[in-house]
Amino acid sequence: MNLPDRRRVAYYYDPEVGAYSYGPHGAHYMKPHRITMTHNLVSAYGMLDKMQILRAKRATAEQMTQFHTDEYVQFLSRLTPENADHDAVNHFLRGDDNPPFDGVFEFCSISAGGSIAAANRLSSGAADIAINWAGGLHHAKQREASGFCYINDIVLGILELLRTYPRVLYIDIDCHHGDGVEEAFYTTDRVMTCSFHKFGEFFPGTGELTDIGKGKGKGYAVNVPLRAGITDEVYKSLFEPIVTKILEVFRPSAVVLQCGADSLSGDRLGMLNLTMQGHASCVQFLRKQNVPLMLLGGGGYTIRNVSRAWCYETACALGIEDSLDPFLPYNPHFEFFGPRYRLEVPSSTMEDYNILGGYADDTRKTVLAQLSQLQPAPSVGMHDVPHESVGEHLGWRLELDEPEDEEDKRLAQHARFVYKLQESRASDDTDSEEEATRRRPKKRMSIITNRVMRQHDEFEKEHAVYCGDTGKRTRRRFFEGDENAAWQGPDAIVEAYVSPEIQTTRFGVDYMMSRGGMEGDLDVEDDLG
Ligand code: FE2
Repeated sequence: MNLPDRRRVAYYYDPEVGAYSYGPHGAHYMKPHRITMTHNLVSAYGMLDKMQILRAKRATAEQMTQFHTDEYVQFLSRLTPENADHDAVNHFLRGDDNPPFDGVFEFCSISAGGSIAAANRLSSGAADIAINWAGGLHHAKQREASGFCYINDIVLGILELLRTYPRVLYIDIDCHHGDGVEEAFYTTDRVMTCSFHKFGEFFPGTGELTDIGKGKGKGYAVNVPLRAGITDEVYKSLFEPIVTKILEVFRPSAVVLQCGADSLSGDRLGMLNLTMQGHASCVQFLRKQNVPLMLLGGGGYTIRNVSRAWCYETACALGIEDSLDPFLPYNPHFEFFGPRYRLEVPSSTMEDYNILGGYADDTRKTVLAQLSQLQPAPSVGMHDVPHESVGEHLGWRLELDEPEDEEDKRLAQHARFVYKLQESRASDDTDSEEEATRRRPKKRMSIITNRVMRQHDEFEKEHAVYCGDTGKRTRRRFFEGDENAAWQGPDAIVEAYVSPEIQTTRFGVDYMMSRGGMEGDLDVEDDLG
């Protein structure tokens, strides 16, 4: 007897999420409005009455400190564009990618609240698939923002899942390496991370094939570095065998899929060439595995395509994608989907550098060989599997005034412990110092320019002077008239790190300057497809 192929889908959406803006007049690549556009498409296709539509409780500062440091969360919770202190902004936000925009903390609390609630929904058994398109902000680090991500909702969601499930698999199909999540779980075998991403002179600069985890987590980080222009066919030839092998050896009890849409063809910051169908085939593949599944958003900067893809992937979660009309229904953003007004993201004619010299085949072989060495389904002692109370299932634990329980504290300590381990590599003989140094990029890159940013503290140190008789070292501001400190323009704090390949494509700085730098409002976005 064939059972109906249905899944109970929980869909988290906060109607206010689209109102936040990373910069004035949409002058930033990251546009939260894309979540609203996705929702309006989902609604116009009549999907809302087929799912549990939920608005999550916003994450509190206390919940965020399950992973992030108290100092960083406190900084974010008080941050406004007006009160942004120069030094603190340099310290926590790191460069121009992550502006102190109006409502940044509320935006983070919506994103993180959705992923935490989605995790609880799955853990409670109330849903088979939980979706939070406002989540997936995979670059955020324990103590700083990175790549448009301030709070790592994914790490917070996975920590929730670990209260119930022994093993969680995280898969990342964003164009950029899922560095923040990998870093958080690099030394544990309870979370396997697997990232497919563009690698090579591309943000964030990490995620090499040889980065496989450390200590107890050795073998439980998987990186599939890609070259520019990968097509559906080649992507699938990597994704499916690798994920199949992971499912076989790791046997996850829940899966989190970060569906970053900057891997789609024509993305303003991405360099891959996936169609909407190719991207969604990852969702379809994981849905078939019948394991609790969380679908999260992530990157995605050609927003009419982002909303198309996430709308289609919502339909994939429901299993109704084949019944959707390829002509888009009328919706509040209808005019942005011209001239074809179709539910599609076609590929472009860009060259696929992954098939040259057998690169994709070699990569697949290497990853599969690494996975073959793992012991199947690492066991987890019962003391490692936290119990959840009925009150927690009901969401009571999210009350603001409720004190942290012991389990919360333990998980927070574990996350911090894991993070510290990675910072003090010297004591671990499973990873040579040379490897450790290589794994972490010496310099932070900008997700916008893919150039290395010089650290602001380094930068300031170089321009510090010894003052007067006191011999005290003080910092002189750049504009104070020191003849050796003439203003060099904004590129002065950026070191050239751009290959000829990137320089000559539309992704280079020259390209951006020729099209007016970061300008790119919703209604003036270039058609790059
Ligand atoms: Fe990305």
